[in-house]
Amino acid sequence: MTTILITGAARGIGFQLAKQYAQQGDRVYATVRDPDHAGPLQALAADSGGMLSVHAMDVGDPAAVTACAESLAGVAIDVLINNAGIFGGLDTQTFQNMDYDNWSHEFNVMAMGPFRVIQAFLPHVQAGADKKIVTLSSQVAAHVYDHVIGYSYASCKAAVNRLMTALATELKDQDIIVVPMHPGWVKTEMAGDVADIEPEESARGCREVIAAMTLADSGTFLKWTGDIHPW
Ligand SMILES: NC(=O)c1ccc[n+]([C@@H]2O[C@H](COP(=O)([O-])OP(=O)(O)OC[C@H]3O[C@@H](n4cnc5c(N)ncnc54)[C@H](OP(=O)(O)O)[C@@H]3O)[C@@H](O)[C@H]2O)c1
Repeated sequence: MTTILITGAARGIGFQLAKQYAQQGDRVYATVRDPDHAGPLQALAADSGGMLSVHAMDVGDPAAVTACAESLAGVAIDVLINNAGIFGGLDTQTFQNMDYDNWSHEFNVMAMGPFRVIQAFLPHVQAGADKKIVTLSSQVAAHVYDHVIGYSYASCKAAVNRLMTALATELKDQDIIVVPMHPGWVKTEMAGDVADIEPEESARGCREVIAAMTLADSGTFLKWTGDIHPW
């Protein structure tokens, strides 16, 4: 049995990851911004026989991250998945029209958020057997992605990629694996129905890649297929 902690698990890819890990018999700590607005996840927890529990953690709020980590003191986490993310909308992150407050918010949640979660939960990961940290990034972080981007979202994902590669270096001598991962273009509330794949397929791919990851992968930007993403 593997012990997994997932951020932003109320819906989308995070929800699917929580569901699939619990279905395969793993112990899942599913964290959400607001447990009172996580009905489907709460239903999963109720049916899980104690294998899935729901915990409040707004990754943009340092006090909430500290409180969640303290409430789980002594719990060994094998796999920590930074999934929580937001996209403020394409119209308000163009060169012509930039919402700077949204940019700050996205950066706090998607770049600083994973960093502070890793800081807070490092003792839990150090105590785990697998010592794997995965942060969901995006293909739009890559310089080779030559389509229209939302400037703020893409810059936050580029930043988190660099933070994760730097942490991979910092934590390597503790045998901790740190990987930023593109989960595919996924039909969630964030991407909409125009996207390529269902959340089930994305989560299945991410799980398989995470299961196979070794220290040699630490610091590489991986796709949900297991391929290295150029960036
Ligand atoms: N969908 C794609 O095509 C795609 C592509 C590349 C990368 N990604 C990345 O994959 C991850 C998951 O995306 P998704 O498509 O599943 O998005 P989603 O359906 O919009 O779900 C995002 C989840 O993140 C949570 N969240 C947002 N802000 C949070 C905060 N401050 N603290 C804790 N949780 C927070 C949301 O919580 P609430 O339910 O409370 O709002 C929600 O559960 C994100 O990091 C995203 O950037 C997605």
